[in-house]
Amino acid sequence: MKYLMGLDIGTSGTKTVLFDLSGREIVSASEEYPLYQPENGWAEQNPQDWWQAASSTMRAVMQKSGVAPEDVKGIGLSGQMHGLVMLDDAGEVLRRSIIWCDGRTTKECHEVTERVGAKRLIEITANPALTGFTAGKILWVRNNEPEVYRKCRHILLPKDYIRYKLTGTYATEVSDASGMNLLDVPNRCWSQEVLDKLDIDGGLLADVYESPKITAHISKEAAALTGLAAGTPVAGGAGDNAAAAVGTGVVQQGRAFTTLGTSGVVFAHADNVTIDEGGRVHTFCHAAPGCYTVMSCTLAAGLSLKWLKDQFFNAELQTAGGLEIDVYDILNQEAARSPIGANRLIYLPYLMGERSPLLDEHARGAFIGLSAIHTRVDMLRAVMEGVAYSQRQCLDVLNGMGVVAGDMVACGGGARSLFWLQMLADVYGCPVSTIASSQESAALGGALLAGVGTGEYASVQQACQKVIKTNAPALPCRQDKARYEQFYDIFLKLYPALKAQYHALAAL
Ligand code: XUL
Repeated sequence: MKYLMGLDIGTSGTKTVLFDLSGREIVSASEEYPLYQPENGWAEQNPQDWWQAASSTMRAVMQKSGVAPEDVKGIGLSGQMHGLVMLDDAGEVLRRSIIWCDGRTTKECHEVTERVGAKRLIEITANPALTGFTAGKILWVRNNEPEVYRKCRHILLPKDYIRYKLTGTYATEVSDASGMNLLDVPNRCWSQEVLDKLDIDGGLLADVYESPKITAHISKEAAALTGLAAGTPVAGGAGDNAAAAVGTGVVQQGRAFTTLGTSGVVFAHADNVTIDEGGRVHTFCHAAPGCYTVMSCTLAAGLSLKWLKDQFFNAELQTAGGLEIDVYDILNQEAARSPIGANRLIYLPYLMGERSPLLDEHARGAFIGLSAIHTRVDMLRAVMEGVAYSQRQCLDVLNGMGVVAGDMVACGGGARSLFWLQMLADVYGCPVSTIASSQESAALGGALLAGVGTGEYASVQQACQKVIKTNAPALPCRQDKARYEQFYDIFLKLYPALKAQYHALAAL
């Protein structure tokens, strides 16, 4: 038998999954790690935590499966995008990674825009300078921690740090590199012009490949640590969203999916570079060679629900622990006790500021309409609805660009909730399905890319055709959709009404 391994180095934890060539999950393992928020709006993680989680879950998967190491034909990495990992000349981590939802680089984003020119930056990198993206973070370290910058010899993205630990090779691939504001997206290579204008030495960056390409092989040390065979090929892999696109079969024009993970993403395939002039959604290279993507990213989708759970649902957490069930199953049942509109309570999910479509790192969360009749159950439902409205607002932008057809696939932890799926179908007004073979779409996508790179499948499209099957969709209910629409109309007006006060608060 032949197997493929996929890793998803996420924000809440790392998942490692072993698949057979039909995409069936054989064994999986996951491990969590902390998120550090040293200041309001900052977000960091420790790359060593990612490596610890990746190596131990790989080892666990190999042990539990009993699969012979040489039967694992390839490994595909996927992971959270945009995080800045800086290494010294010995390959040691110089500081904690500044990750995708960190909003500290307002000043540096202005610097990037000024140095490159707003129009030229979009022409080359297909995106404006955004606080989440990596270039601003590089400049922030140069401006604020010059001694770290001086020692820096290698700049990597999160999953590419794991590749380095597994293989000793510094490499990346186009889908993840697109989120750095340094890649020439139409030409799928580093932009010397942008690097020169930002005065960043291109030698710091890893070699960039197409996503299915085999970039390196497992070293002897990593083999001893993980239980894999030395020499096992490691494909380029992809940023978590492009990997999830492969794992949900979104590799053709018109296809789209929504992720309810820590971040919320609406992602559409595009055959050609398609740019929103307002920069409200991102244009990246797809993991399918030669193709592109348009995607939105909201910063606190699952993160909002996790925040509420940690602050207000401790008893449920303990009950779930005692009964060995998932606490989110309890939360879904609870949320369903509150009616549509949560008794007239609306939540704005801007706990980490907001990227799509607001582009405002100073926005913050809010409950609007809070009354003495409300309970934490109403707050719970309002949080789930607020997240659904924020995805709908992004979908409206993508619809305006003509890249989405009439139905949607959902993935990420939130897609395990039938309640949230139905809500999404009602709020979007279209059928929303999930993937039958594996809900771990990013890990599956990574594994399929490895399968393409090692020749097990002829192309990314062919791999998806063979493997990806969808479940029966949640269908929108006309009456419920009409009710949600009334609250969505109000939701849309709240951020513009609050914007000036958010900025005043940030300036205090
Ligand atoms: C995408 C983004 C997030 C991260 C975290 O632009 O920032 O989706 O990849 O998963």
